[in-house]
Amino acid sequence: RIVPVILSGGSGTRLWPVSRESFPKQLWPLVSERTLMQETALRADGPGFAPPIVVCNNEHRFLIAEQLRDAGIRTPRILLEPIGRNSAPAITAAALLVAEDDPDAVLWMMAADSSITDTAALRRALDAAAAAAREGYVVTFGMQPTAPETGYGYIELGDPLPADGVYGVARFLEKPDAATAERFVASGRHLWNSGMFVFTARTLLRELETHAPDVLPRVRQAMANRQDDLDFIRLETEAFKACPSISIDYAVAERTSRAAVVPAALGWSDVGSWGALWELGEKDARGNVALGDVVLEGAENCYVRSDGMLAAVVGLRDAVVVVTEDAVLAMHRGQAQDVKKIVERLKAAR
Ligand code: GDD
Ligand code: MG
Repeated sequence: RIVPVILSGGSGTRLWPVSRESFPKQLWPLVSERTLMQETALRADGPGFAPPIVVCNNEHRFLIAEQLRDAGIRTPRILLEPIGRNSAPAITAAALLVAEDDPDAVLWMMAADSSITDTAALRRALDAAAAAAREGYVVTFGMQPTAPETGYGYIELGDPLPADGVYGVARFLEKPDAATAERFVASGRHLWNSGMFVFTARTLLRELETHAPDVLPRVRQAMANRQDDLDFIRLETEAFKACPSISIDYAVAERTSRAAVVPAALGWSDVGSWGALWELGEKDARGNVALGDVVLEGAENCYVRSDGMLAAVVGLRDAVVVVTEDAVLAMHRGQAQDVKKIVERLKAAR
C-alpha cells in the first residue's frame, strides 16, 4: 500500500487577503466546497492507500485534524513541526516514521495546496511512478509547461526507462531565472515539476545521506525525541530548529542520479494566485468568476469574491476583487504575482 504524505507548510501569500499565516490557503475551500487539504487527502483515500501522514506546523494541528475528520479520512498520523524548515526536513520526518514499520514502503509526497482535475490520469501516473519507486528511483510528475514561470522546478526529459510511461531525467533545475525558463519552455524537452514525489523511504533516506548529510541527523534526533500528544506526533523543537531549511527540490531532486519522471496531463494547478483561481473557476457568459455576495454590471473576465459584505463591480475587465471581513484587494488579474509584495510590506510595517 502506498503511504500518502501531505505537506502543509506554506502560507500562500499570493492569495492574500483570504490566505493568512494563521489560516493558510490549503485550509480554505477555494476550488470546490471542500478545502484544498481535504481534496488532497481524498485523492489518496481508498483501496491501495495506507492512512495519510500529514506534516504541518504545530499551530494548525486542530484545524487540520478537524478537516480530515470531516472529510472522512480515518486514522491519519499528524507530524507537528515546531517551526518550518521547508519541505526536505518535513518529508524526511515522514520517511523515518514509515521506515520504522517498513523501509521499502512507497511514499507519495503531495503538496496540501494543489488542484488536480483528472483523477483517472493521476491514478495511472501514480501506478507507473510507484513501479519505478520500487526500483529505487526518485520519481516526479512532469507537467506540460504553458509559460516561462520562474517559481517552478524544470525537468529535462531523458531516455525512457523499462517501466511503462517512466523516463529518466537529464537534469532537474529548481526555479530557473527568466531567460533560462524561456529557453526551457521553447526547447519542448522540459516539463514542470508538479511538486509531488514518489519514492521508498529507503531511497529517500539514502539520497539524503549522500546529498544532504546535514538534514538527516537533525531530523533523526527530532524523531527519536518526539512526543506523542493525543493524535499528534510532536517533533523535538531543539533538534528540528537546528536543521537547515531546504526544499526537497534543492536537497534531492537537483542532485540525485536516480531521478525519474512520469509525464502526465492531470489538470494540475498549484493554485498559486488569484489568476490561477480565475482559470480554475466556473465562469459566466462574460468570463467572470463570481463567488459569494457579488453583483456585476458590464464586467468581463473578472474574478470577484466576497466572504463578507456585498461587492459590486461595474465595467471592469480582467480585474480581481476579493473582499474579506477585514480587507479588500482590487487589482489587475495580470499582476496576480505582486500580491506577495503587499504582504511583505504589511509584514514590515508591523
Ligand atoms: N510541513 C511543511 N513544512 N511543509 C512545507 C514546508 C515546511 O516547512 N515548506 C513548504 N512546505 C510544503 C508547502 O505547503 C507545499 O505543500 C509544498 O511543501 C511545496 O512548498 P512550496 O513552498 O509551495 O514550494 P514551491 O511552490 O516554491 O515549489 C515546489 O512546488 C512547485 C509546484 O507547485 C517545487 O517542488 C517546484 O519544483 C514545483 O514546480
Ligand atoms: Mg508552491
